[in-house]
Amino acid sequence: MTNGFSFAYGPSVRCGAGSTAQIAELLPPGPVLFVTDKQLLDHGLADAALAALRESGRTISIFDSVEPDPADATVLAAAAQGRAAGAVAVVGFGGGSPMDVAKVAAYLLTNDEPLEAIYGVGKATGVAAPLILCPTTAGTGSEATPIAILTTADGRKLGIVAPALYAQWALLDPDLSVSLPPAITAATGIDAMVHAIEAYTSARLKNPISDMLARQALTLLAGNIRKVIADGADIAAREAMLLGSHLAGVAFSNAPVAAVHALAYPLGGLFHIPHGLSNALMLCHVLRFNMPAAEEAYAQLAPLLAPELAALGERERAQAFVSTLSQLIADIGLPDTLSAVGIGTEHLDLLAEEAMLQTRLLINNPRTIERADARALYEAAL
Ligand SMILES: NC(=O)c1ccc[n+]([C@@H]2O[C@H](COP(=O)([O-])OP(=O)(O)OC[C@H]3O[C@@H](n4cnc5c(N)ncnc54)[C@H](O)[C@@H]3O)[C@@H](O)[C@H]2O)c1
Ligand SMILES: [Zn+2]
Repeated sequence: MTNGFSFAYGPSVRCGAGSTAQIAELLPPGPVLFVTDKQLLDHGLADAALAALRESGRTISIFDSVEPDPADATVLAAAAQGRAAGAVAVVGFGGGSPMDVAKVAAYLLTNDEPLEAIYGVGKATGVAAPLILCPTTAGTGSEATPIAILTTADGRKLGIVAPALYAQWALLDPDLSVSLPPAITAATGIDAMVHAIEAYTSARLKNPISDMLARQALTLLAGNIRKVIADGADIAAREAMLLGSHLAGVAFSNAPVAAVHALAYPLGGLFHIPHGLSNALMLCHVLRFNMPAAEEAYAQLAPLLAPELAALGERERAQAFVSTLSQLIADIGLPDTLSAVGIGTEHLDLLAEEAMLQTRLLINNPRTIERADARALYEAAL
């Protein structure tokens, strides 16, 4: 029996190879703000979507200046461009960065509010312009979530979390992720796995539906991540990764992520380490720290990574869960120490200080983290 819970599934989903060509039928008529990044346009990834929108007679205003870990100023520029073009709907096309910018731009198109007023949970109370999100990484799951993460001028990663940020549609087209290079496939795939793991161990809002979604997400992601790195054109495996990343997104929209993300964010905000890699670098250290509070949950998840682990006792299964993830991170070629990405002892205090500001996430961790714990975790990861 549960203590009672609420659950929001998020956007409608259209999934399948080539499905971006159907984008026009999912949007209301009128001018569209199309938010993406230059690299994706150069790859020709958006060609099918843009052709479909043009054929439908819409005018399209392309905003392609989104950078990884997008700045708050980027969102303001996107919204201003959309307003000038008279956009009535928004498409977010790319990884988490363009999708997050698109979400907030869709909100600002119909709500003239300063960003400072909407940072945090439940502050954006207006209604956003219609929004479709097309992920090209698998991924942040941002197409599923009511969350956008922006970086302020002083390197702080702040979240806007509100139902108004949900897209109407998530378009999952595995053709879009074929061009993803192995290093980004690996990092973003671990990010999705961390979403599933942290949702499953989330301290306050975990529930039977988020648990089911997190388990299925982890099964899909663990079963396919090596395949997509070995063969980026394996469409079946790419689709499974996109679905896994999406389900993890639905799970953590309801059962929020915790200390892995809280400790990862300062690495992105201050040192521009990609989000997925930041998570991969902190993951196993945080899992070991959480072990006294989360052993049972880790033991339950372990067989989803490797079925043979089901034969072990609970303690051994939980330990094997962490060592299997650690091995996976090494196998897929990601760096596994902070020093390998240029971080040294002199940065530990700043990192710990910044991580402690992520109270929105730390309250979800199964074990309380103090500043000294955060510093020790960064030190262990050096
Ligand atoms: N809103 C949420 O719920 C949520 C969840 C997790 C992370 N995030 C945020 O998302 C951002 C990270 O997003 P991301 O990891 O998807 O990366 P990203 O969007 O920053 O993209 C990283 C790089 O990959 C390239 N790329 C993306 N798709 C490609 C493709 N198919 N082929 C070739 N290159 C491709 C991009 O051009 C870019 O250079 C961070 O800002 C993070 O904080 C948001
Ligand atoms: Zn993440």
